[in-house]
Amino acid sequence: MTATLIDGKAFAARLRQGIAGQVDAMRARGITPGLAVVLVGEDPASQVYVRAKGKQTREVGMTSFEHRLPADTSERDLLALIGRLNDDPAVNGILVQLPLPEHMDEAAIINAVDPAKDVDGFHILNVGLLATGQKAMVPCTPLGCLMMLRDHLGDLSGRRAVVVGRSNIVGKPMAQLLLRDSATVTIAHSRTQDLPSLCREADILVAAVGRPGFVKGDWIKPGATVIDVGINRTPDGLVGDVDFEAARAVAGAITPVPGGVGPMTIACLLANTLTATARKND
Ligand code: GUN
Repeated sequence: MTATLIDGKAFAARLRQGIAGQVDAMRARGITPGLAVVLVGEDPASQVYVRAKGKQTREVGMTSFEHRLPADTSERDLLALIGRLNDDPAVNGILVQLPLPEHMDEAAIINAVDPAKDVDGFHILNVGLLATGQKAMVPCTPLGCLMMLRDHLGDLSGRRAVVVGRSNIVGKPMAQLLLRDSATVTIAHSRTQDLPSLCREADILVAAVGRPGFVKGDWIKPGATVIDVGINRTPDGLVGDVDFEAARAVAGAITPVPGGVGPMTIACLLANTLTATARKND
């Protein structure tokens, strides 16, 4: 058996096309969604992401505001910028690229963003809204994973899902989203005992640990749907958290790296910006 490849690149392109259509309709009513991205420092991977975000924002017809600040920017100055963006009616979404320099209190920065403009879904209020099943801004990467899972599997109700990784950005919100769709969810992590056996129970396996090839082929239940969130730069190029060649021989469907989850993340950022704009103008 060879797994079906879940084509995140094509899915993201369709999603962006739909978003562009909705932006057109908004602009006809005099509303142009605006997304502000803030980058502090010169982390090379972050620079690549921020450039891609700006480009795709403009491509769907939104306004992109980019703020690049030196690595030694004070927390006070960053908070002042966030305050101005919170107050700016042309800005509907705000994203502060992580990681931030060491001297900054990440939680304080994230929680300074107006929750209604928090297109990352990282603000404590949005985390709480998601956890209690209320209308939240949802983190982009797990939202993209959920869209692909629903598209491939339909109803997720009652399915056994294992999320490997417990980060605030991916693992925890992914588990909340799967739970909201009535899947039976387990979060696994570095201290989980007998991880291979646990993974073998999963109809849906989400790998988000940031370790190349960590999930082995014989950890996968035959026919399972595997979502690989890993983006690991290695001498062999970009690889995921799943041993892809071994996994594709066992799984029913799998997201490739690159071309799986990655392209969906920015498309969902644009979707969240559209949502934030629509909610403000409702
Ligand atoms: N750095 C890596 N992933 C993300 C993300 O989804 N949002 C932000 N703001 N920073 C990131």
